[in-house]
Amino acid sequence: MSKTESWGSRVGLILAMAGNAVGLGNFLRFPVQAIQNGGGAFIIPYLVCFLLMGIPLLWVEWSMGRFGGRSGHHSTPFILHNMDPKRALWKYVGVFGIFTNIAVAAYYCYLESWTLSYIWHSVAGTFMDMGAEGVASFFNSYIDISVSTTGIPYEAIWFWLLCLLLNTWILSKGLSGGVEKVAMIGMPLLIVFGLFLAIRGVTLKAGEHGAVYDGTVGLNFLWTPDYSSIWKPSVWLAAAGQIFFTLSVGMGSIQCYASYVRKKDDIALNAMSAGWMNEFVEVVLGGAIIIPIAIGYLGIDKVKELTATGGLGLGFKTLPYLFTQWGPWLSAIAGVCWFGLLFFAGITSSLAMGTPVMGFLQDEFGWKRGPSAWMFGLVVLLLGLPTVLFFEHGVFDEYDYWAGTVSLVIFALLEVILFAWVFGMDKGWAEINMGADLRPPTVYRFIIKYVTPVILAVVFLASLPGIWEKITAPASPYLHASRLLLLAVYAGIALLVRKAYLKRKRHAHGMV
Ligand code: PHE
Repeated sequence: MSKTESWGSRVGLILAMAGNAVGLGNFLRFPVQAIQNGGGAFIIPYLVCFLLMGIPLLWVEWSMGRFGGRSGHHSTPFILHNMDPKRALWKYVGVFGIFTNIAVAAYYCYLESWTLSYIWHSVAGTFMDMGAEGVASFFNSYIDISVSTTGIPYEAIWFWLLCLLLNTWILSKGLSGGVEKVAMIGMPLLIVFGLFLAIRGVTLKAGEHGAVYDGTVGLNFLWTPDYSSIWKPSVWLAAAGQIFFTLSVGMGSIQCYASYVRKKDDIALNAMSAGWMNEFVEVVLGGAIIIPIAIGYLGIDKVKELTATGGLGLGFKTLPYLFTQWGPWLSAIAGVCWFGLLFFAGITSSLAMGTPVMGFLQDEFGWKRGPSAWMFGLVVLLLGLPTVLFFEHGVFDEYDYWAGTVSLVIFALLEVILFAWVFGMDKGWAEINMGADLRPPTVYRFIIKYVTPVILAVVFLASLPGIWEKITAPASPYLHASRLLLLAVYAGIALLVRKAYLKRKRHAHGMV
């Protein structure tokens, strides 16, 4: 049961939190965002957003979580409610922290399952003699589930089910018995795999194994500051969006993990350890694999063109082919490292999406761990089905837009207002500092109170035209249906929250 649940060790907690943050976003989304937004031009806004929005939100979310956990709350509706019990509104704002996790998991687990299948195909040597076109079209037929790529009918679906089962099973083992163990094994392996590939990427030499440019050409593209487009709002929006997604802030999963730390455990330093580890993995490793390898073989212009239509192409359609240039052995090893790394990155994140849902069911409805894990699996299965079946119709991207992008900004803006202005910065700062092994610089008190909310408000306002355009643009019935579905999920969770609240109230009035 949730009351006795807690993390096994400090290292385990940090690795689990880092695992939560380090995800597919670090290796697939970051390089693509960087390339699309001008390489060096992207890095400066990105780092500014990390310092002024990412770090403050990490402290806010960790401390909100620990604060809620002290009163036995492990999901955001009641963590938020607990910070301002007089207003009914916060519970429903907190619904975001369950909704986004379910909706993101619904498409994220599908993506995660591709990595499992691609590990298998790398070992089996499927890509060896396919040629560039062949590898790219393999991916297209893989996601077109009616086509069988390797003789296994409905292959994508089987791997997806396997992936969901794996997630559910690990979640049912609990935090210290499941999630933490996976992070303790997965994170170090991910770093080893990542280092191997990054070294290959950086030391790539023109003329060797068919490469046309040195790997350093790609690195220079990313790291040479380019001030010409630094004032473009779109670059800033992209940078802010990436910071959100990669740190998993604005999601409710950090609050949930933090609600299981002990009462006086440090959070100030732990939050920084996990946050900076994420940045290392993203900027150093994530930036040194796809970009140098792809640019080394294809050149900057071609890579820009390939990423123009979305991010998944490079990782799944191009890289496996480029690996085949390295000969059968090395290409199999590189494939296992690349897709293995993606798998560990993915699963330690999708597990984090399950815990808020489980915490909610356990706290509010007295469910046991096992059934709540299976319920999460079932919901993700049902909500994920449209993304699997109608991938080509854009359902996957639609979920990502509403749940993985827009919702995060709205939730983060509201929670930081709650924290700094309603709960109050005096109490908030004391919470962050309680038990701190390293005190945050005092300037962050000011940043959390003024700078972060203003940046978030600006990001939100600046994205309104895009949101409006999206809503008013002609859309297929698939997209309309997915929007309605997502709305229904939100409303359904809100109803459950209301039910739970009324139940709590009845108990409080002497019926305990
Ligand atoms: N941060 C993860 C990534 O970079 C995604 C994620 C979002 C994980 C929300 C958990 C919760 O891929």
